[in-house]
Amino acid sequence: MPDFPAGFRWGVSTSAYQIEGATTVDGRGPSIWDTFAHEAGRIVDGSTGDQACDHYHRHAEDTALLAGLGVSAYRFSIAWPRVQPTGTGPANAAGLDFYDRLVDGLLAAGIDPVATLFHWDLPQPLEDAGGWLQRDTAARFAEYADLTATRLGDRVKLWITLNEPFIHMTLGYGIGTHAPGRMLLFDAFPAAHHQLLGHGLAVAALRARTASPVAIANNYSPVRQVGDTDADRAAAQAYDALHNRLFTDPLLGRGYPDAPGLDPAVIRDGDLDVLAAPIDVLGVNYYNPTGVRAPEEGSPLPFEMVPLDGYPRTAFDWPVAPDGLRELLRQLHHRYGDALPPVQVTESGCAYDDAPDAQGRVDDPERIAYLDGHVRAMREAMAEGVPVTGYFVWSLLDNWEWAEGFTKRFGLVHVDYPTQRRTPKSSYAWFRDLVRR
Ligand code: BGC
Repeated sequence: MPDFPAGFRWGVSTSAYQIEGATTVDGRGPSIWDTFAHEAGRIVDGSTGDQACDHYHRHAEDTALLAGLGVSAYRFSIAWPRVQPTGTGPANAAGLDFYDRLVDGLLAAGIDPVATLFHWDLPQPLEDAGGWLQRDTAARFAEYADLTATRLGDRVKLWITLNEPFIHMTLGYGIGTHAPGRMLLFDAFPAAHHQLLGHGLAVAALRARTASPVAIANNYSPVRQVGDTDADRAAAQAYDALHNRLFTDPLLGRGYPDAPGLDPAVIRDGDLDVLAAPIDVLGVNYYNPTGVRAPEEGSPLPFEMVPLDGYPRTAFDWPVAPDGLRELLRQLHHRYGDALPPVQVTESGCAYDDAPDAQGRVDDPERIAYLDGHVRAMREAMAEGVPVTGYFVWSLLDNWEWAEGFTKRFGLVHVDYPTQRRTPKSSYAWFRDLVRR
């Protein structure tokens, strides 16, 4: 493995609903994921996040696992419905107390707390009022950011406003496989603009409380054009605009790209200036590239997504393509030039069907190979001049993987859900050694 610059940030990521459990404790209100997971047929194994990894009660044990890993940072998310149980009004002190304890525990272990404000768990009453389709939700988000920064702003080392607004818009509001389960296809654009407006307003709110540096974590997927016709090229461009540019161009002062579904009527005067509030770091979440070709005649979509041949695959059936990480980092650098802030890879990881052997050990060589390939690909992009300053593995723990329930394991640490027993996998030791070196 090549050397990394001193001060490079090595971390792991999680999110609140996927690990915390304790969904009715200390005044927490319901989120859209509580509602969705409890609806029949939504989650493949019929499970919910009611208990998840019980991290709410086991955070000290999990902080010890982080300390053992030697990471310099831990990216977690704050559950909005713990801070504001109905999405509006004063802070629920007991909810913030939990994050206070977590943050202090991390700092005592020498680990930088990196807090994401929104990882998809919108308070249910806000969804009842229209969710991210409503402009008002953006203002509510800024208010929540302010309350959280008031309490934690002196100790959090990096603030991330939103996690993957593209995925939340597409799966949550476009095709309905995630909460809140809406199926609006391209009419979901208001959920893009209002999330980004919320991001811009939250950046201002955080800075007003001197809570910084500030970032957003976007999902990126380099497009692999399948076929070579003009129609294939147009399809690849349309998909790229939607997935890779819609949530980045306006933040870096370019305005919106020409993306499918974009509805200018939703954008008010002055909004683009709010969206373009400077950020200090761009968070990049990368899992795999996307194959795209021209759609069949009569398709409602301007592109067709096609499986990519010739790659090994994870348990999610996602192609393992480390070169895609290098490609997307170069693309960001090329596309935005000096406007690109330092980048941190805020999620990178893979699901495999890991299970303890007869001795209770969990050996996961595929994950080691996956991470090794991605770290090297990132390092190559850095050598080519892309300003990358951190890398976070998704995830610390096996956890509740949204619509896949407990069936997909992404952790460096195996979790036996009935007993909540944590067992570090061989990838945990591998990552610890990498960080140490
Ligand atoms: C999300 C995580 C999720 C991971 C694996 C990312 O899109 O931010 O919450 O667990 O992908 O699917």
